[in-house]
Amino acid sequence: MKIMEQELLRLQNEARQQLELLAKDDTLSMAQQQLEDFRIRYLGRKGLFGTIMRELGTVSADERPRLGQLANTVKSEIEKLFAEKQAELCGNAGEKKGRGGIDISLPGRYPERGRLHPVTQIMNEVCSIFESLGFSVAEGPDVEHDHYNFEALNIPAHHPARDMHDTFYVSESILLRTHTSPMQARIMESQQPPLRVIAPGKVYRCDSDITHTPMFHQVEGFLVDTQVSFADLKGILTVFTQKMFDKELALRFRPSFFPFTEPSAEVDIACVICGGKGCRVCKQTGWLEILGAGMIDPEVFKMVGYDPEIYSGFAFGLGIERIAMLKYGINDIRLYYENDLRFLSQF
Ligand code: FA5
Repeated sequence: MKIMEQELLRLQNEARQQLELLAKDDTLSMAQQQLEDFRIRYLGRKGLFGTIMRELGTVSADERPRLGQLANTVKSEIEKLFAEKQAELCGNAGEKKGRGGIDISLPGRYPERGRLHPVTQIMNEVCSIFESLGFSVAEGPDVEHDHYNFEALNIPAHHPARDMHDTFYVSESILLRTHTSPMQARIMESQQPPLRVIAPGKVYRCDSDITHTPMFHQVEGFLVDTQVSFADLKGILTVFTQKMFDKELALRFRPSFFPFTEPSAEVDIACVICGGKGCRVCKQTGWLEILGAGMIDPEVFKMVGYDPEIYSGFAFGLGIERIAMLKYGINDIRLYYENDLRFLSQF
Protein backbone atom coordinates (compact mmCIF):
# COMPACT_ATOMS: atom_id res chain seq x y z
CA MET A 1 0.00 0.00 0.00
CA LYS A 2 2.85 2.27 -0.86
CA ILE A 3 0.61 4.36 -3.08
CA MET A 4 -1.72 5.38 -0.27
CA GLU A 5 1.23 6.21 1.94
CA GLN A 6 2.70 8.45 -0.78
CA GLU A 7 -0.69 9.98 -1.42
CA LEU A 8 -1.07 10.94 2.27
CA LEU A 9 2.39 12.53 2.44
CA ARG A 10 1.80 14.37 -0.83
CA LEU A 11 -1.48 15.72 0.54
CA GLN A 12 0.28 16.94 3.67
CA ASN A 13 2.93 18.78 1.58
CA GLU A 14 0.37 20.27 -0.75
CA ALA A 15 -1.73 21.53 2.19
CA ARG A 16 1.34 23.11 3.79
CA GLN A 17 2.25 24.89 0.53
CA GLN A 18 -1.32 26.11 0.05
CA LEU A 19 -1.38 27.57 3.54
CA GLU A 20 1.97 29.28 3.00
CA LEU A 21 0.50 31.02 -0.05
CA LEU A 22 -2.19 32.74 2.03
CA ALA A 23 -0.92 36.32 2.37
CA LYS A 24 -1.05 38.38 5.57
CA ASP A 25 -1.90 41.63 3.83
CA ASP A 26 -5.32 40.38 2.69
CA THR A 27 -8.32 41.93 4.43
CA LEU A 28 -9.81 40.01 7.37
CA SER A 29 -12.86 38.92 5.41
CA MET A 30 -10.73 37.78 2.43
CA ALA A 31 -8.45 35.79 4.73
CA GLN A 32 -11.48 34.22 6.42
CA GLN A 33 -12.94 33.25 3.04
CA GLN A 34 -9.65 31.69 1.86
CA LEU A 35 -9.25 29.74 5.10
CA GLU A 36 -12.79 28.46 4.77
CA ASP A 37 -12.12 27.37 1.15
CA PHE A 38 -8.99 25.56 2.36
CA ARG A 39 -10.87 23.85 5.19
CA ILE A 40 -13.58 22.58 2.83
CA ARG A 41 -11.04 21.42 0.19
CA TYR A 42 -8.74 19.53 2.56
CA LEU A 43 -10.54 18.80 5.81
CA GLY A 44 -14.23 18.92 4.84
CA ARG A 45 -16.35 15.76 4.83
CA LYS A 46 -16.14 15.53 1.01
CA GLY A 47 -12.60 16.99 0.89
CA LEU A 48 -9.32 15.40 -0.28
CA PHE A 49 -8.45 13.90 3.07
CA GLY A 50 -11.92 12.40 3.39
CA THR A 51 -11.54 10.74 -0.04
CA ILE A 52 -8.30 9.04 1.01
CA MET A 53 -9.85 7.93 4.26
CA ARG A 54 -12.71 6.26 2.43
CA GLU A 55 -10.13 4.29 0.40
CA LEU A 56 -8.61 3.06 3.65
CA GLY A 57 -11.59 0.74 3.89
CA THR A 58 -10.36 -1.16 0.86
CA VAL A 59 -6.82 -1.98 2.14
CA SER A 60 -5.92 -5.30 3.67
CA ALA A 61 -6.45 -5.84 7.38
CA ASP A 62 -2.64 -6.18 7.88
CA GLU A 63 -1.88 -2.78 6.42
CA ARG A 64 -4.85 -0.94 7.84
CA PRO A 65 -3.50 -0.16 11.38
CA ARG A 66 -0.23 1.32 10.09
CA LEU A 67 -1.93 3.35 7.36
CA GLY A 68 -4.70 4.43 9.77
CA GLN A 69 -2.08 5.72 12.16
CA LEU A 70 -0.28 7.61 9.38
CA ALA A 71 -3.59 9.11 8.21
CA ASN A 72 -4.29 10.39 11.73
CA THR A 73 -0.83 11.93 12.00
CA VAL A 74 -1.26 13.66 8.64
CA LYS A 75 -4.71 14.95 9.56
CA SER A 76 -3.47 16.31 12.91
CA GLU A 77 -0.56 18.00 11.16
CA ILE A 78 -2.84 19.68 8.58
CA GLU A 79 -5.22 20.81 11.35
CA LYS A 80 -2.33 22.21 13.36
CA LEU A 81 -0.97 24.14 10.36
CA PHE A 82 -4.48 25.42 9.63
CA ALA A 83 -5.01 26.65 13.20
CA GLU A 84 -1.61 28.39 13.18
CA LYS A 85 -2.44 30.15 9.92
CA GLN A 86 -5.86 31.12 11.19
CA ALA A 87 -4.37 32.70 14.32
CA GLU A 88 -1.76 34.49 12.20
CA LEU A 89 -4.26 35.96 9.73
CA CYS A 90 -7.36 36.56 11.83
CA GLY A 91 -6.22 36.67 15.47
CA ASN A 92 -9.08 36.12 17.91
CA ALA A 93 -11.67 36.98 15.29
CA GLY A 94 -10.96 33.73 13.48
CA GLU A 95 -11.49 31.46 16.45
CA LYS A 96 -14.80 29.78 16.88
CA LYS A 97 -17.21 30.47 19.72
CA GLY A 98 -16.48 28.28 22.73
CA ARG A 99 -12.71 28.55 22.53
CA GLY A 100 -12.76 31.90 24.36
CA GLY A 101 -12.67 33.99 21.18
CA ILE A 102 -15.17 36.47 19.75
CA ASP A 103 -17.96 35.00 17.67
CA ILE A 104 -18.17 37.60 14.94
CA SER A 105 -21.40 36.11 13.61
CA LEU A 106 -23.33 37.21 16.75
CA PRO A 107 -25.37 40.44 16.55
CA GLY A 108 -23.82 43.39 18.40
CA ARG A 109 -24.82 44.43 21.93
CA TYR A 110 -26.57 47.76 22.08
CA PRO A 111 -25.76 50.11 24.95
CA GLU A 112 -28.63 50.55 27.46
CA ARG A 113 -30.50 53.81 26.87
CA GLY A 114 -30.90 55.97 29.94
CA ARG A 115 -34.18 57.69 30.78
CA LEU A 116 -35.65 59.94 33.43
CA HIS A 117 -36.58 58.34 36.75
CA PRO A 118 -40.40 57.96 37.04
CA VAL A 119 -40.43 60.32 40.04
CA THR A 120 -38.54 62.96 38.00
CA GLN A 121 -41.01 62.50 35.14
CA ILE A 122 -43.97 63.09 37.49
CA MET A 123 -42.19 66.02 39.15
CA ASN A 124 -41.70 67.64 35.72
CA GLU A 125 -45.35 67.01 34.81
CA VAL A 126 -46.61 68.50 38.10
CA CYS A 127 -44.42 71.59 37.62
CA SER A 128 -45.55 72.14 34.05
CA ILE A 129 -49.25 71.92 35.09
CA PHE A 130 -48.74 74.61 37.74
CA GLU A 131 -46.65 76.70 35.36
CA SER A 132 -49.57 76.58 32.92
CA LEU A 133 -51.71 77.99 35.78
CA GLY A 134 -49.37 80.97 36.17
CA PHE A 135 -47.07 79.70 38.98
CA SER A 136 -43.32 80.37 38.79
CA VAL A 137 -40.76 77.81 40.01
CA ALA A 138 -38.32 78.44 42.88
CA GLU A 139 -35.72 76.11 44.41
CA GLY A 140 -34.13 76.12 47.87
CA PRO A 141 -31.60 74.15 49.94
CA ASP A 142 -32.10 70.57 51.18
CA VAL A 143 -29.87 71.32 54.20
CA GLU A 144 -31.90 73.95 56.00
CA HIS A 145 -31.84 76.20 59.04
CA ASP A 146 -34.13 75.24 61.89
CA HIS A 147 -35.44 78.82 61.55
CA TYR A 148 -36.94 78.32 58.06
CA ASN A 149 -38.03 74.73 58.57
CA PHE A 150 -39.82 75.47 61.86
CA GLU A 151 -39.59 78.91 63.52
CA ALA A 152 -40.64 81.01 60.52
CA LEU A 153 -43.57 78.62 60.03
CA ASN A 154 -44.96 79.26 63.46
CA ILE A 155 -43.38 76.13 64.97
CA PRO A 156 -41.19 77.43 67.81
CA ALA A 157 -38.75 75.24 69.78
CA HIS A 158 -40.52 72.58 71.89
CA HIS A 159 -43.76 72.98 69.89
CA PRO A 160 -45.47 69.55 69.81
CA ALA A 161 -45.88 69.84 65.99
CA ARG A 162 -42.11 69.24 65.66
CA ASP A 163 -42.73 65.62 66.70
CA MET A 164 -44.81 65.05 63.53
CA HIS A 165 -41.71 65.53 61.39
CA ASP A 166 -39.20 62.78 62.44
CA THR A 167 -36.35 65.19 61.68
CA PHE A 168 -32.78 64.29 60.70
CA TYR A 169 -30.64 66.90 62.49
CA VAL A 170 -27.17 67.86 61.19
CA SER A 171 -26.47 70.06 64.22
CA GLU A 172 -28.60 71.81 66.80
CA SER A 173 -29.75 74.50 64.36
CA ILE A 174 -29.18 72.78 60.97
CA LEU A 175 -31.28 69.92 59.62
CA LEU A 176 -32.37 68.11 56.45
CA ARG A 177 -35.59 69.91 55.54
CA THR A 178 -38.62 67.83 56.48
CA HIS A 179 -40.90 69.57 53.96
CA THR A 180 -40.72 72.18 51.20
CA SER A 181 -42.69 74.73 53.28
CA PRO A 182 -39.49 76.62 54.34
CA MET A 183 -39.62 77.98 50.78
CA GLN A 184 -42.77 79.93 51.74
CA ALA A 185 -40.78 81.90 54.34
CA ARG A 186 -37.70 82.25 52.11
CA ILE A 187 -39.67 83.66 49.17
CA MET A 188 -42.07 85.83 51.18
CA GLU A 189 -39.28 87.53 53.15
CA SER A 190 -37.62 88.61 49.89
CA GLN A 191 -40.60 89.34 47.58
CA GLN A 192 -43.81 91.30 47.83
CA PRO A 193 -47.30 90.03 46.84
CA PRO A 194 -48.92 89.15 44.56
CA LEU A 195 -47.10 85.80 44.57
CA ARG A 196 -47.84 82.57 42.78
CA VAL A 197 -44.96 80.16 43.38
CA ILE A 198 -44.21 76.45 43.37
CA ALA A 199 -41.08 75.01 45.00
CA PRO A 200 -40.23 71.40 44.06
CA GLY A 201 -37.53 69.42 45.86
CA LYS A 202 -36.31 66.58 48.04
CA VAL A 203 -37.33 66.32 51.68
CA TYR A 204 -36.24 63.93 54.45
CA ARG A 205 -37.92 62.17 57.34
CA CYS A 206 -37.01 59.20 59.49
CA ASP A 207 -39.92 57.15 58.14
CA SER A 208 -40.20 53.96 56.04
CA ASP A 209 -43.04 51.63 54.99
CA ILE A 210 -45.04 50.90 51.80
CA THR A 211 -46.25 54.52 51.53
CA HIS A 212 -43.31 56.31 53.24
CA THR A 213 -39.62 56.65 52.35
CA PRO A 214 -36.89 58.49 54.30
CA MET A 215 -36.19 60.71 51.27
CA PHE A 216 -39.10 61.78 49.13
CA HIS A 217 -40.19 64.68 46.97
CA GLN A 218 -42.68 67.44 47.58
CA VAL A 219 -43.92 70.36 45.55
CA GLU A 220 -44.85 73.34 47.66
CA GLY A 221 -47.31 75.75 46.14
CA PHE A 222 -48.53 79.08 47.49
CA LEU A 223 -50.48 82.02 46.27
CA VAL A 224 -50.66 85.36 48.10
CA ASP A 225 -52.81 88.29 47.03
CA THR A 226 -55.72 90.32 48.30
CA GLN A 227 -59.00 88.41 48.78
CA VAL A 228 -57.71 84.89 48.27
CA SER A 229 -60.14 82.31 49.64
CA PHE A 230 -60.34 78.58 50.39
CA ALA A 231 -62.50 78.27 47.26
CA ASP A 232 -59.46 79.38 45.19
CA LEU A 233 -57.41 76.60 46.81
CA LYS A 234 -60.11 74.02 46.01
CA GLY A 235 -60.37 75.32 42.45
CA ILE A 236 -56.62 75.14 41.76
CA LEU A 237 -56.30 71.64 43.27
CA THR A 238 -59.32 70.35 41.34
CA VAL A 239 -57.90 71.65 38.04
CA PHE A 240 -54.52 70.16 38.94
CA THR A 241 -55.89 66.64 39.64
CA GLN A 242 -57.99 66.67 36.48
CA LYS A 243 -54.97 67.60 34.38
CA MET A 244 -52.67 65.19 36.19
CA PHE A 245 -54.92 62.11 35.88
CA ASP A 246 -56.76 63.11 32.67
CA LYS A 247 -60.12 62.49 34.33
CA GLU A 248 -62.38 63.82 37.03
CA LEU A 249 -61.36 62.25 40.32
CA ALA A 250 -63.03 62.65 43.67
CA LEU A 251 -61.08 64.88 46.08
CA ARG A 252 -61.66 64.80 49.82
CA PHE A 253 -60.69 67.65 52.16
CA ARG A 254 -60.23 66.46 55.73
CA PRO A 255 -59.88 69.02 58.52
CA SER A 256 -56.32 68.92 59.82
CA PHE A 257 -53.75 71.00 61.61
CA PHE A 258 -50.57 72.69 60.43
CA PRO A 259 -49.17 75.53 62.60
CA PHE A 260 -48.53 77.62 59.46
CA THR A 261 -52.04 77.41 57.94
CA GLU A 262 -55.47 78.16 59.36
CA PRO A 263 -57.79 76.53 58.53
CA SER A 264 -55.80 73.46 57.44
CA ALA A 265 -56.77 70.37 55.51
CA GLU A 266 -55.34 67.11 54.31
CA VAL A 267 -56.43 66.30 50.81
CA ASP A 268 -57.12 62.75 49.66
CA ILE A 269 -57.71 61.44 46.19
CA ALA A 270 -59.91 58.42 45.42
CA CYS A 271 -57.53 55.42 45.33
CA VAL A 272 -56.77 54.74 41.67
CA ILE A 273 -55.37 51.29 42.47
CA CYS A 274 -58.59 49.77 43.88
CA GLY A 275 -61.06 52.30 42.43
CA GLY A 276 -62.06 53.33 45.97
CA LYS A 277 -63.04 49.79 47.10
CA GLY A 278 -60.21 49.50 49.63
CA CYS A 279 -56.80 47.84 49.24
CA ARG A 280 -53.41 47.42 50.94
CA VAL A 281 -52.14 50.76 49.59
CA CYS A 282 -55.09 52.88 50.76
CA LYS A 283 -55.26 50.83 53.98
CA GLN A 284 -58.81 49.69 53.05
CA THR A 285 -60.13 53.30 53.15
CA GLY A 286 -60.55 53.88 49.39
CA TRP A 287 -58.60 57.15 49.73
CA LEU A 288 -54.95 58.08 49.49
CA GLU A 289 -53.55 61.22 51.07
CA ILE A 290 -51.60 63.26 48.54
CA LEU A 291 -51.17 66.66 50.12
CA GLY A 292 -51.50 68.98 53.05
CA ALA A 293 -52.91 72.47 52.52
CA GLY A 294 -54.61 75.47 54.07
CA MET A 295 -54.88 79.25 54.26
CA ILE A 296 -51.56 80.82 55.25
CA ASP A 297 -51.64 81.70 58.96
CA PRO A 298 -51.61 85.47 59.76
CA GLU A 299 -48.70 84.77 62.15
CA VAL A 300 -46.56 83.63 59.20
CA PHE A 301 -47.45 86.81 57.29
CA LYS A 302 -46.47 88.94 60.31
CA MET A 303 -43.06 87.21 60.53
CA VAL A 304 -42.24 88.12 56.92
CA GLY A 305 -43.65 91.65 57.25
CA TYR A 306 -46.89 91.23 55.27
CA ASP A 307 -50.05 92.89 56.65
CA PRO A 308 -52.60 90.07 57.25
CA GLU A 309 -55.37 92.66 57.14
CA ILE A 310 -54.52 93.28 53.47
CA TYR A 311 -53.19 89.98 52.24
CA SER A 312 -54.46 86.45 52.33
CA GLY A 313 -53.16 83.34 50.65
CA PHE A 314 -53.26 79.58 50.43
CA ALA A 315 -50.46 77.03 50.48
CA PHE A 316 -50.20 73.32 49.79
CA GLY A 317 -47.48 70.68 49.83
CA LEU A 318 -47.97 67.59 47.73
CA GLY A 319 -46.11 64.28 47.83
CA ILE A 320 -44.73 63.43 44.40
CA GLU A 321 -44.15 59.71 45.06
CA ARG A 322 -47.80 59.34 46.09
CA ILE A 323 -48.92 60.95 42.83
CA ALA A 324 -46.53 58.69 40.91
CA MET A 325 -47.96 55.61 42.70
CA LEU A 326 -51.48 56.59 41.73
CA LYS A 327 -50.56 57.48 38.18
CA TYR A 328 -48.67 54.24 37.52
CA GLY A 329 -50.61 51.88 39.81
CA ILE A 330 -47.59 51.10 42.02
CA ASN A 331 -48.44 49.52 45.35
CA ASP A 332 -45.13 49.93 47.21
CA ILE A 333 -43.36 53.31 47.28
CA ARG A 334 -39.99 51.68 48.08
CA LEU A 335 -39.81 50.22 44.54
CA TYR A 336 -38.84 53.69 43.29
CA TYR A 337 -35.61 53.61 45.26
CA GLU A 338 -34.36 50.05 44.83
CA ASN A 339 -32.60 50.88 41.54
CA ASP A 340 -34.00 47.76 39.86
CA LEU A 341 -33.71 48.45 36.12
CA ARG A 342 -36.44 45.87 35.34
CA PHE A 343 -38.83 48.15 37.28
CA LEU A 344 -37.43 51.54 36.27
CA SER A 345 -37.17 50.84 32.54
CA GLN A 346 -40.96 50.38 32.28
CA PHE A 347 -41.57 54.12 32.56
C1 FA5 B 1 -46.43 68.72 55.02
O1 FA5 B 1 -45.29 68.32 54.79
C2 FA5 B 1 -46.77 70.17 54.94
N1 FA5 B 1 -45.58 70.94 54.79
C3 FA5 B 1 -47.73 70.36 53.74
C4 FA5 B 1 -48.34 71.71 53.74
C5 FA5 B 1 -47.82 72.69 52.91
C6 FA5 B 1 -49.46 71.97 54.52
C7 FA5 B 1 -48.40 73.94 52.87
C8 FA5 B 1 -50.04 73.21 54.49
C9 FA5 B 1 -49.51 74.18 53.66
P1 FA5 B 1 -47.41 66.34 55.36
O2 FA5 B 1 -46.50 65.93 56.43
O3 FA5 B 1 -48.82 65.87 55.48
O4 FA5 B 1 -47.51 67.91 55.24
O5 FA5 B 1 -46.83 65.85 53.94
C10 FA5 B 1 -47.38 66.26 52.72
C11 FA5 B 1 -47.45 65.08 51.74
O6 FA5 B 1 -46.16 64.50 51.59
C12 FA5 B 1 -48.31 63.95 52.24
O7 FA5 B 1 -49.65 64.19 51.91
C13 FA5 B 1 -47.76 62.77 51.50
O8 FA5 B 1 -48.28 62.73 50.18
C14 FA5 B 1 -46.30 63.10 51.39
N2 FA5 B 1 -45.49 62.39 52.40
C15 FA5 B 1 -45.38 62.65 53.71
N3 FA5 B 1 -44.49 61.84 54.31
C16 FA5 B 1 -44.01 61.03 53.33
C17 FA5 B 1 -43.03 59.97 53.28
N4 FA5 B 1 -42.30 59.61 54.34
N5 FA5 B 1 -42.79 59.35 52.09
C18 FA5 B 1 -43.48 59.75 50.99
N6 FA5 B 1 -44.39 60.74 50.95
C19 FA5 B 1 -44.67 61.37 52.11
